[in-house]
Amino acid sequence: MQQFQDAVRDALIAETGLAQEAVRLETPRDPSMGDLAFPCFVLAKELKAAPPKIASDLESKLNDRLQGITAKATGPFLNFTIDPSLLASTTLGQIQEQGDAYGGSDEGHGKTIVLDLSSPNIAKPMSVGHLRSTVIGAAIQRVHNALGYTTVGINHIGDWGSQFGKLVAAVDRWGDTVDLEADPIKALLALYVRYHEEEEGDPELKQAGRDAFKELESGEDGKVRATWRNLTELSLAEFDKIYARLGVEFDEVRGEAYYESHLDATVERIVAAGITEESEGALIVRLSEFGEEVPPCLLRKTDGTTLYATRDLAAAFHRWELYSFERSLYVVGGDQRLHFRQLKHVLERMGVDWEPRMEHIDFGMMRLPEGKMSTRKGRVIFLEEVLDQAAAEADKVIAEKNPNLEARAEIAEMVGVGAVVFNDLKRERVKDVEFVWEEVLSFEGDTGPYVQYTHARLASILRKGAAEQAELDSEPVADWSALTGASPILGKLGRFNAVLSRAARNAEPSEITTYALSLCRDTNTWIAAERVLGQAPAATAARLALVDGVRQVLANALGILGVGAPERM
Ligand code: ARG
Repeated sequence: MQQFQDAVRDALIAETGLAQEAVRLETPRDPSMGDLAFPCFVLAKELKAAPPKIASDLESKLNDRLQGITAKATGPFLNFTIDPSLLASTTLGQIQEQGDAYGGSDEGHGKTIVLDLSSPNIAKPMSVGHLRSTVIGAAIQRVHNALGYTTVGINHIGDWGSQFGKLVAAVDRWGDTVDLEADPIKALLALYVRYHEEEEGDPELKQAGRDAFKELESGEDGKVRATWRNLTELSLAEFDKIYARLGVEFDEVRGEAYYESHLDATVERIVAAGITEESEGALIVRLSEFGEEVPPCLLRKTDGTTLYATRDLAAAFHRWELYSFERSLYVVGGDQRLHFRQLKHVLERMGVDWEPRMEHIDFGMMRLPEGKMSTRKGRVIFLEEVLDQAAAEADKVIAEKNPNLEARAEIAEMVGVGAVVFNDLKRERVKDVEFVWEEVLSFEGDTGPYVQYTHARLASILRKGAAEQAELDSEPVADWSALTGASPILGKLGRFNAVLSRAARNAEPSEITTYALSLCRDTNTWIAAERVLGQAPAATAARLALVDGVRQVLANALGILGVGAPERM
């Protein structure tokens, strides 16, 4: 598609003398209008003519200049239609040549994107909110990778804060009543719940919790720290199981505790900027200049301990110093909007010029049928169980539709996990996600399994097509005119790069899910109308090339989304 755009742009520039950036080409909403459109309004002033007149005057001049592309004036627009055979052979040729890399580019060359993603809290089960952060963040990272950016995915584990003092106190008191090794997260959760039940009536316990955190923050390397370290390691090992199932890896696992040694310097830096105040013994930065509703940012409590925000500020400086990022994206739920506003406002008050590069990539809540969750009350849904159940349900569907499938368990896992991931990515990220089992796993409708199934269906046609073509005496030359009716599909295939580029810019994986779904719908409709196999060899060759092009693009899209693309299912 790029080379056609370039050709049209060059012709327009040559004919009108417009500057490169003034030639804005659009995609007509109605594909029957053409593949590209140029609104002639930008020329009206200079030519002192009405846009429709300009369009009709330019029509024949451009047709003289262009080859394989026809210009047609429609109202104030010049619409361009690429010769279908040319469009087909060029686009499908490129996909075949570039394979897994098709859709990518090097637009991000030399630019670094930092992503803060997943970032669960240790000693608790990973919540569905952390699942969202993980899958959205990883998809955003992969799309940037495809576009040639350097990316750094950081898992900012919540491993610091007063709750860990409480937990250490709870382990100290009741540690031998639970089995920490067998199921660490469940055991720790039970201790955490028990602590909260008993702390009110037990001032000693409460004090032990406070003292333990104070000791942690003091840097003392004694029994408290050893217990904390053990909790961290046990938890991370559990999280890794989920990351492995999701196919997510991090460039850095740098929990909040990592910034411990940076905290004093960070606080000093903010003090030196002259924006801090003492308030009831605590150190704060007032932010009311940004709106009455913005509370001050608390940097140090009366007892000298630091806060979540202090550690995030230390991390922000650290990331800037290490990576000089183009953007630093925080993939964190919308419930932390105020926190990120506060961070940015503190940096703004300090006069930090890279502050605008920090963006909170917020997302909505995921609601499971079981309802809202609360760790404190022990009412949680374990993410692993959601994935297990999804894989089991997928296996049931496969048992019904394709009982003799090879490597069934593996594919059921791919489909089950893929369904959960796709469901999470398919709506605009700021919207809440409703989790309805029957919908998530459906092979029809807007689901991951539908896209996977389409991919597998295309792979199956290709296998049969290869067998059919192997029977022929010579390899047929594709007859591209056999692809009439497929131009919306070809147009979409050609726009894949633009979709990825927009998804990266908006940090919005749903651009890709929406694209993949509509590509599947168009393709399934086309397959129902046109036969691929058993046609004149040249026609079958062209249609197989289209099938392969769609298969490749679906595989690439699913890969970026973090969803498996099975060859059979
Ligand atoms: N651990 C936090 C939570 O679960 C999320 C951390 C997000 N990242 C950050 N840099 N604050 O709420």
